[in-house]
Amino acid sequence: MDIQVISGKIRDVKADAVIVSLLDWETNDKPLTGAVGAVDDAMGGAIRELVASGDLKGKLNQTAVLYPRGAIQAERVIVVGIGKAQDLTLDKVRQAAGTAAKKARDLNSKSIATIAIGSGGGKLDSQAAAQATIEGAVLSLYEFRVHKSTSAEHGLIELVTLVELDQSKLPALKEGARAGRILAEATNLTRDLVNQPSNHMTPHILADAARDMAAKNRLKCDVLNVEQIAELGMGAMMGVTKGSDEPPAFIVLEHKPEAGPPVIFVGKGITFDSGGISLKPGENMGEMKGDMAGAAAVIGAMQAVAQLDLPVHVVALAPACENLPSGHAYKPGDVLKAMNGKTVEVISTDAEGRLILADALCYAERYKPSAVVDLATLTGACVIALGENVAAGIFCNDDDLSSKLREAGNKAGEKLWPMPLYEEYRDKIKSVVADMKNSGGRFGGVGTSAIFLKEFTSYPWAHLDVAAMEADDRGGPYQPKGATGFGVRTLVEFVRARVNT
Ligand code: BES
Ligand code: MN
Ligand code: ZN
Repeated sequence: MDIQVISGKIRDVKADAVIVSLLDWETNDKPLTGAVGAVDDAMGGAIRELVASGDLKGKLNQTAVLYPRGAIQAERVIVVGIGKAQDLTLDKVRQAAGTAAKKARDLNSKSIATIAIGSGGGKLDSQAAAQATIEGAVLSLYEFRVHKSTSAEHGLIELVTLVELDQSKLPALKEGARAGRILAEATNLTRDLVNQPSNHMTPHILADAARDMAAKNRLKCDVLNVEQIAELGMGAMMGVTKGSDEPPAFIVLEHKPEAGPPVIFVGKGITFDSGGISLKPGENMGEMKGDMAGAAAVIGAMQAVAQLDLPVHVVALAPACENLPSGHAYKPGDVLKAMNGKTVEVISTDAEGRLILADALCYAERYKPSAVVDLATLTGACVIALGENVAAGIFCNDDDLSSKLREAGNKAGEKLWPMPLYEEYRDKIKSVVADMKNSGGRFGGVGTSAIFLKEFTSYPWAHLDVAAMEADDRGGPYQPKGATGFGVRTLVEFVRARVNT
């Protein structure tokens, strides 16, 4: 798909569909302004008539399709509602852009033209509005058809044109559109990795995908094999991977435009979580193909960091393996030794994510990082606490880091809700035979998982439990059913904000 930014009048643009936005229309005696007003004038008041009839109110994501029959250059006009001006946010822009882009695609449009939604009467910053418009469009058009033998019933959008009347705004819009595209494509890469079932996404396939992405984007990529993982003393990860015949991989990606302490992203990469000997119930076990969503998110984020050429040293670590039961699997009661020498009594082989993360957090130490952010589909308890597809939990030992991450999340439309690292949780994972247990039981399960990870950190650190966010089985305006790519845009916005401070 090509994306271009031009200056001119929306009525002069040749496209299969033009998209204009409509603010919530409370009374019908106000004139239509901006792009929707210009299109309405050219069409002799056709949009105004729809509004007057009450058929189109400008409610968020409401759409109407009009056929200008030569009154303007485009074949059709899609009007999309964006709600009330005072309530407008960048996420609503993403939603409206996604809704309209899908509508255009379903009508078999190959080329669409749109304004930077929300930048006129909506009064949002033009660059941010352009970014959100392109993000919404590119994210909404994502499809995972790799395993379908039939092609889609609709065509594909080949060209998106962002149109702006005011020539002086062009540089800002171009920059916004570029960032929006890079962020959305990185998210879509992550979605591709997460949507793949585990027989098509083993640790080594994931490592190959990381290598491939790194080669295309001039990033450094090292993949440690099982011998190297063992040699480093990563006994916790070695325990988890033992039950599987698939060899593990420890993926390291590095973007180093400058020397100095890096920001490190760590992603949980369990390519399938059966629970191991502490086997999960069979129902919905297939969803655990998505237990590598943290790893996929840090790989996607690195692609965007590289493509945006951000002048910040960033490293991504992704420990990847399977968690399966077998004759050589690790067992409840076993004691494992992590890379920092701390020992762990295995209470449940299903609390495997924190084990592989423990070794990855120890490995991060060697970089003397300025901040470490881990992403993991870590606990069902976090899903119980915050609800499905509402927010990720954030645990953090540094208030400044926490607020910066939450700010980045707000920019990205990804909510991070603060959760406590109370010392009391530490008591729950006391072990008689080892330094700690890998599970504190049912109550406070999200807090005990985080306090476990804290034992392996020695730097400003944040843990994002994304178990509730990794997939969406209902979908949304810019979220097709399936993997979400949650976290990619938050991580990248976090790094972008560091450039300007
Ligand atoms: N990968 C799961 C957590 C999960 C649950 C992710 C639901 C996405 C949706 C994790 O490895 C796990 O099994 N956690 C256990 C921990 C328990 C055994 C202490 C859990 O949450 O039940
Ligand atoms: Mn598990
Ligand atoms: Zn897991």
